[in-house]
Amino acid sequence: MKLRMRTNITRYLLEQYLKGFTYYKMTNLDTRIANPDQLLTTDIDKFCDSCTDLYSNIAKPILDIGIYVYRLTSSLGGQTPAMMLAYLVVAGTFLTHLRKPIASMTAKEQRLEGEYRHINSRLITNSEEIAFYRGNNREKLTLFTSFHKLIKHLRGLLEFKVAMGVVDNFVGKYVATVVGFYAVSIPFFQKDHPMLRGTSQHRFKHYYENGRMLVKLAEAIGRLVLAGREMTRLAGFTARVTEIRGVLQDLNEGKYQRTMVAEGKNESIGKPGSGRIVAKDNIIRFEHVPLITPNGDVLIKDLSFEVKSGINVLVCGPNGCGKSSLFRVLGELWPVWGGTVTKPPSGKLFYIPQRPYMTLGTLRDQVIYPHTQAEMLRRGNAKDEDLQKYLDLVQLGHLLEREGGWNTVADWMDVLSGGEKQRIAMARLFYHKPQFAILDECTSAVSMDVEDSMYSYCRQANITLFTVSHRRSLWKHHEYYLLMDGRGSFEFKPIDPDTEEFGS
Ligand SMILES: Nc1ncnc2c1ncn2[C@@H]1O[C@H](COP(=O)(O)OP(=O)(O)O)[C@@H](O)[C@H]1O
Ligand SMILES: [Mg+2]
Repeated sequence: MKLRMRTNITRYLLEQYLKGFTYYKMTNLDTRIANPDQLLTTDIDKFCDSCTDLYSNIAKPILDIGIYVYRLTSSLGGQTPAMMLAYLVVAGTFLTHLRKPIASMTAKEQRLEGEYRHINSRLITNSEEIAFYRGNNREKLTLFTSFHKLIKHLRGLLEFKVAMGVVDNFVGKYVATVVGFYAVSIPFFQKDHPMLRGTSQHRFKHYYENGRMLVKLAEAIGRLVLAGREMTRLAGFTARVTEIRGVLQDLNEGKYQRTMVAEGKNESIGKPGSGRIVAKDNIIRFEHVPLITPNGDVLIKDLSFEVKSGINVLVCGPNGCGKSSLFRVLGELWPVWGGTVTKPPSGKLFYIPQRPYMTLGTLRDQVIYPHTQAEMLRRGNAKDEDLQKYLDLVQLGHLLEREGGWNTVADWMDVLSGGEKQRIAMARLFYHKPQFAILDECTSAVSMDVEDSMYSYCRQANITLFTVSHRRSLWKHHEYYLLMDGRGSFEFKPIDPDTEEFGS
């Protein structure tokens, strides 16, 4: 039952999480959930565990209670069990009230666990950089800070639980037994109860029988009251799972929540998501589109330009002026705040990011990413020989032999050098042959002659390029330039022989 529940919930959440760019938006555009990985793995597992436990913790006592109440009612009358059940209601309400803080404390515990785990996995991901910097002590400090925060919280939680345990036992067991024996002896103190006929031995037998049953009933009630403890824990997990569900839903509907740094001053510009996106082949056009970060900072108030197929554009400007942000809007990662963006449908637009990304899988998978081998065969527009050609074009032909063929599986993020990864990314571009490609400083570690041949091939394959680069040598491959000055203005002009080239 637990497995089935976990499968269903996980399937639903992953479906939502990987729809559109929700996984990107969750960490970049929204600040409500800091560690979705923890939520999607351990928290859901614990939630299901807790749910199924609750079922077995509740079903048995309820059955017991039913049986004993029936037997007691038939021998002693309704008064005795009624008294016990009334006690159940009172005690249950009282304990639930006392236990209220546990729910939020459990949710907080999970959050802190997640933070701690996230810091650990960051260390693994960036181990080489940290090792070169000798950052051990700094990282240790961060790890311990997070760990101590977690332990401090856990200690508080445990202390609260111990105190609650004492109260639980007292109310659920001792007082329940006392109430039970009192209830069972009521008929025996009455003057002429039918039970009192017969010899004293008879009477004793009845008293003993009913007393035993009552103790059992009290125990069952006690267990039910204690099951409430599991219930408050469950409430904590439920809160976490509901939270991620709600956030996923909001994100899919384009609603973001974030602590806006510049709140209030953008009202004249519009709201996230109020711009229009029009799909059209062979053209990219921005009409009065503001460029705004998720924090609400305005990079450019009103951006307009038009690029047709065949016109390569060089995008330049100082660091942080919004070059990558422009492409985040173009790639629909960030919402459009106003105006109209006209662009080909997303499959015909390819983005090569600043930081190269290698997927888990074979060498072939790296070149055809995000396609799979099955998809490549189905589309039939490339064979292994073509892939070989693309690798030769970026002067990586030797890689095939060095790594032992297309089907070699390795951790490519680590195996390949920075420049090699960037060149694989270019081979990927050649494989996909999109209408437009965005090269975001993605050839910074590639030598100039290789770069030249890559640009020539793009021209040949009819791929129109947006390049972000500081290299002066690349100007000759472009017809227009888009210069952002970092203070809110931009310039979109053709490159002619007397354009002053900047860069290095
Ligand atoms: N996810 C984000 N959330 C908030 N601000 C961001 C985010 N990404 C980038 N920014 C801000 O947007 C500005 C432009 O960034 P970017 O477009 O990446 O610069 P560059 O022109 O160097 O590529 C920077 O000031 C940066 O701090
Ligand atoms: Mg950038």
